[in-house]
Amino acid sequence: MRKLGVGVVGVGEMGRRHAENLRRNVPEARLIAVADVSQDRARQTALELEIEHGYSSLGAMLDNEEIEAVVIATPDKFHAQAVELAAGAGKDILCEKPLALNLADARAAIAAVSKAGRRLQVGFMRRYDPAYAAAKQRIETGEIGTPVIFKSVGRDRDQPPLAAYESGVNGMIFYTNTIHDFDLARWLMQDEVTQVHAYTTSVIRPEVARYGDVVASVVNLQYHRGAIGNIESYAQAVYGYDVRTEIVGSKGSILVGSLDRMPAVFLTSRGGEQMLADHFLSRFADAYLSEMKDFVHNILNDNAPRISGDDGLKALAIAVAAENSHQESRPVTIRLDGTVS
Ligand SMILES: NC(=O)c1ccc[n+]([C@@H]2O[C@H](COP(=O)([O-])OP(=O)(O)OC[C@H]3O[C@@H](n4cnc5c(N)ncnc54)[C@H](O)[C@@H]3O)[C@@H](O)[C@H]2O)c1
Repeated sequence: MRKLGVGVVGVGEMGRRHAENLRRNVPEARLIAVADVSQDRARQTALELEIEHGYSSLGAMLDNEEIEAVVIATPDKFHAQAVELAAGAGKDILCEKPLALNLADARAAIAAVSKAGRRLQVGFMRRYDPAYAAAKQRIETGEIGTPVIFKSVGRDRDQPPLAAYESGVNGMIFYTNTIHDFDLARWLMQDEVTQVHAYTTSVIRPEVARYGDVVASVVNLQYHRGAIGNIESYAQAVYGYDVRTEIVGSKGSILVGSLDRMPAVFLTSRGGEQMLADHFLSRFADAYLSEMKDFVHNILNDNAPRISGDDGLKALAIAVAAENSHQESRPVTIRLDGTVS
C-alpha cells in the first residue's frame, strides 16, 4: 500500500495528537518528521513517536523530500505564512483553525496554494464528529424541513493562563473558540451568515481585556436566506468541556450534545464531570482521527479535501465581523464575497 509521507509542524497539545494519530492510527500515512521552534520538544516528540526527524523549523522540515503533506499546528498567528511556505515547497496541507488572523493573510495563503496547484484543508474537525455528521446528513435529507434557527454553545473548561493572552500568538475568542461554531453555522444551515452582532464580557476576569480578549461572548447571526442564529462562547466553564448545538427547522429540531433529560441540571466544578468530557481531545478524539484519515486518503486519491480554504476564509470573515462588532458595538455586515463592513 502506498503511504503518504507527512510532517507535523508545532507539536504542542494539538500537533502532538495529530502526529500521534499519523504515526499510530492512520494506516495510509507515514509520519516522517515533526518540527517545532522548541528544539527540545521536536527532538523529544520524534523520540517518543519513534521517528527519525525532529526539526527546529518548518523551513528545515520542508526540505525533506519524503514529506508530501504538512499538518500545521503552530499558534494561530503563524498559520497563513506556514501555508504559503508549505505550498511553495510543493506540499499538500492540513492547517489548524483559524486559517489566518485577518482576511488579507487568508486570501494570500489560499492564492499561494492555488498557484502551487496543491491542496489545502482547514481543521474544522467537528464536521467529522459522528453526532454532527449525522445531524448534517438528516438536515440534507430534509427531516427538519427548512432550517430557521441555529443555536450553539462552546464552553472550554480551563481558564487560560494570563501568559497565554500575553504571548499574543493566538487570536481572541472568536478566532480560537467561536470559529468552530461559525463553521458549523454555515455548514449545518447550508447558508451564509450576512450579519453579526456580538456582545461580550470580561466582568469575572477584567485582566483579559488588557490583551484585547474577552471571557465570554454571544453573537447573534442573520443569514442570507432569512434564518437567524445565536452562538455563545465561554473560556472558563470550570465544570467541563461543554459543546452543544441545535438546528431548528420548519418540521423539527436536531440537538447535538444535549444534556440529560432532567428538569434542572446543576453543573459545578465538582458536578459536571460525570456528564461531560473534560477536554476537546477526549470529546472529539474520534473526529480528530477521522479528519486525519480522510485528509490523507483524499490526498492519496487525488480528491479535493472535504473542507476547503474557502471554508476557512468564510468562517474567518464571520470572526472578523464579530470582532469588529465587539469593538464598535454595532451590527456588522458580511458580503457574500467574504468582505466585511
Ligand atoms: N481543532 C481544534 O479543536 C483545536 C484544538 C486546540 C488547538 N487548535 C489549534 O492548534 C494550534 C496549536 O494549538 P495548541 O493548543 O497545540 O498550542 P500549543 O501552544 O500547545 O502548541 C504550539 C506549538 O507550536 C510551537 N511553535 C510556536 N511557534 C512556532 C513556529 N513559528 N514554528 C514552529 N513551531 C512553533 C510551540 O513551541 C508549541 O510546541 C492553534 O492554532 C489552535 O488554535 C485546534
